[in-house]
Amino acid sequence: MTQLRTVRFSAALFAMVSSCTLSATSAPTNVPAVSPVPANKLAPTPPMGWNSWNHFAGRITASDVRAMADAMVATGMRDAGYVYVNIDDTWVGERDATGAIRPNAKFGDMSALAAYVHARGLKLGLYSSPGAKTCAGFAGSHGHEDQDARTYAAWGVDFLKYDYCGARDQYPVTRENQEALFRRMGHALRQTGRPIVYSLSQSGDFDIWRWAPQTGANMWRTTPDISDDWASMSKRGFRQLDLGAWSRPGHWNDPDMLEIGNGGMTADEYRTQMSLWSILPAPLLAGNDLRSMDAVTKEILLNREVIAVDQDPAGTPARRLETRGDLEVLVRDMSDGSIVVGFFNRGERTAEVNLAWRRLGDRFRQGATARDLWRHAAVAPGSGYAGSVPRHGVVLLRVTPAT
Ligand code: GLA
Repeated sequence: MTQLRTVRFSAALFAMVSSCTLSATSAPTNVPAVSPVPANKLAPTPPMGWNSWNHFAGRITASDVRAMADAMVATGMRDAGYVYVNIDDTWVGERDATGAIRPNAKFGDMSALAAYVHARGLKLGLYSSPGAKTCAGFAGSHGHEDQDARTYAAWGVDFLKYDYCGARDQYPVTRENQEALFRRMGHALRQTGRPIVYSLSQSGDFDIWRWAPQTGANMWRTTPDISDDWASMSKRGFRQLDLGAWSRPGHWNDPDMLEIGNGGMTADEYRTQMSLWSILPAPLLAGNDLRSMDAVTKEILLNREVIAVDQDPAGTPARRLETRGDLEVLVRDMSDGSIVVGFFNRGERTAEVNLAWRRLGDRFRQGATARDLWRHAAVAPGSGYAGSVPRHGVVLLRVTPAT
């Protein structure tokens, strides 16, 4: 864990140091404006998969990626909907004489790696930056956007995470410059003709949710990097409730990857992350070592009733029904006419909760049936729900009006 933190810290430190050095010696200019990128029609529901950064950070290798692809099949993750296998920062090597990007020695033949992933019914994701360098100091796509997009497509890449971090030292940090650089890669990906999900990464600067869809992006980070602790996760997750209006099929707010199974939170806290990301809804990108998941981690990541909430085709955003002290009661309309209700206890003690079905609207005045999505059981018949929610835990119900 210490080593992992060190790698993440050094990436951040690198960005800060390079930023200071370059801004003192160069006179950055603005990026010429770029036209909007039409929607690519991908990601009708939030993308699901796995990403290397949270567990492996800079240590990820091609053999780890193959092992994760195998584990995604063996554990049932693929069949539950997790299909993207995404390699984050540190895969890039040097450009060749023609300027084409090449992987470093940890990776070798990217076409062979894509073929391995595809043969298992999965899709491959890569990471780059609009800067000359990525966040961790590897070569970025600056000035090579079209060429890199063509290379990714030729390899068989299906997803690109494009991280602004490495470009911060090259241009004045403005919304216009970010938007132009993100649009530039958006066009490049479209011109390949290959369906490639486009995922933007920055910290939610300049209200990115307002302008990201016009870059061609399918999802965009809305927060600084998550870490594997309650404060970091809960702050990022609940913050999304103010941004729901900007998220819709094809275009998703991304409060960062899952930490479930990485060891820093309790099972209740991890159930909260899974429930919250699903009710919002948000992309579900697991970030743990899939080869060594314990039973609780599997039970959380593979909860198909909760995944079905995340993947509901309407993609309607969650809203707050009420906040009572540390208790958040969130609701979301499902496409089948049911409502998902989440009782989230952000407090330090068990909370007693109750809700009369009629609070959910007129359709519920004649009563309702409800299912507890973590207990996998029907809620006892009655005019509403009463129960208790553990510290930092959640009760998630799917409530259907009586007919
Ligand atoms: C930034 C991103 C992270 C990760 C690292 C890699 O910090 O926000 O998600 O991609 O870069 O260097």
